Amino acid sequence: MKQVFHYFAPCPRGLETVLAQELAELGAQGVSPTDGGVAFHGDWALMYRANLHSRIASRILWRLAERSYRTEDDIYKAARALEWPALFDVSRTIKVAVTGVGCKLRSLDFIALKVKDAVCDAFRAACGERPSVDTAMPDIRLHVFLTERQQTLYIDTSGEALFKRGYRRETGDAPLRENLAAGILRLTGWQLDEPLLDPMCGSGTFLIEAAMMAKRIAPGRWRHFAFERFTQFDAALWAQLKQAAIEAELAVSPAAIYGSDDTPAVLDAARANLAAAGVSDAVVLEEADALERNAPADSGVLICNPPYGIRLEEQTWLDALYPMLGHALKQRFAGWRAYYFTADLRLAKLIRLSASKRTVLFNGSLECRLFEYRMVAGSNRKSDAS
Ligand SMILES: C[S@@+](CC[C@H](N)C(=O)[O-])C[C@H]1O[C@@H](n2cnc3c(N)ncnc32)[C@H](O)[C@@H]1O
Repeated sequence: MKQVFHYFAPCPRGLETVLAQELAELGAQGVSPTDGGVAFHGDWALMYRANLHSRIASRILWRLAERSYRTEDDIYKAARALEWPALFDVSRTIKVAVTGVGCKLRSLDFIALKVKDAVCDAFRAACGERPSVDTAMPDIRLHVFLTERQQTLYIDTSGEALFKRGYRRETGDAPLRENLAAGILRLTGWQLDEPLLDPMCGSGTFLIEAAMMAKRIAPGRWRHFAFERFTQFDAALWAQLKQAAIEAELAVSPAAIYGSDDTPAVLDAARANLAAAGVSDAVVLEEADALERNAPADSGVLICNPPYGIRLEEQTWLDALYPMLGHALKQRFAGWRAYYFTADLRLAKLIRLSASKRTVLFNGSLECRLFEYRMVAGSNRKSDAS
């Protein structure tokens, strides 16, 4: 029987359910969404597949230990009991991060130090040497998660966060994280046979993620992962999974994807990113004002992350822009489903349309909304009194 490993995939808050669906499609068992991520289990190859194919997870963590604790010393002992030299070589650099929710101990930094000591003591006892710490670019990242009584110790199998796909060459104004964009696309229910438009595309994150889905390009196909540094790394299995992913890619996208922005410099950034992701051929890009452009088809999905700002002059500009966005939708996008993702919660009122759905999402610690508007000719207008 295959050995079962327990994993946890953190993700932007609000995307747990769609991440759970994605992981189940990849063959994960016992999929259990919780605040900020999804727990699941499966074999060793599942961890490779999740890193290679998950568009929504921020990382894939492998659970090494889960115990109750009372003191810092209990945490040291749990970490010291693990067979660290069997996991990675002493020449690898390490970093320990600690997160606590309801933890009563005084200092999370001190706990990180205790866990680092436990790892180093285990190596010293086994081979007389200890790994070095590198807080900037460690080879091996360890994560300790503490509740009031429970400690969980994970080793990060991803390394750099999974939203770093390796295709981003240029950024525009406030680019979205790639996994947040992919999760939002999934929340919209966009199907490959529906035209997709981002009329304020910036550096093109929605467009690239959509085009990669359409061409079945695995998001992790260009990058390296921390698991490649594990002693247990199975290079043949990894090569096989990667080759299968590359063979499954489509030469031609089956989807009609359109993007526009009114700023030539950000369109240049979008073009560079599309080219790096191998999807230039899958997206029609043009310079256009979102308030004036026409719909590229009779129906489809419009997705957009409009500008937002906190300074007074920005807010004055947005107070005028958002009603015009609503007006443009009513005038030219009958038959479309439109989705606005924003941290500016005033948009709901200013756009003067009735949202058919509002989803709470977090961009880092910033609370955002995804508003859905179903544009049927002559509908959706809020009365002037509302
Ligand atoms: C928050 S950014 C979008 C970022 C994008 N989602 C990304 O990941 O790079 C908003 C974009 O809206 C564009 N924009 C602002 N007003 C516009 C208008 N009237 N028509 C078209 N684009 C506009 C800006 O140039 C900017 O690129």
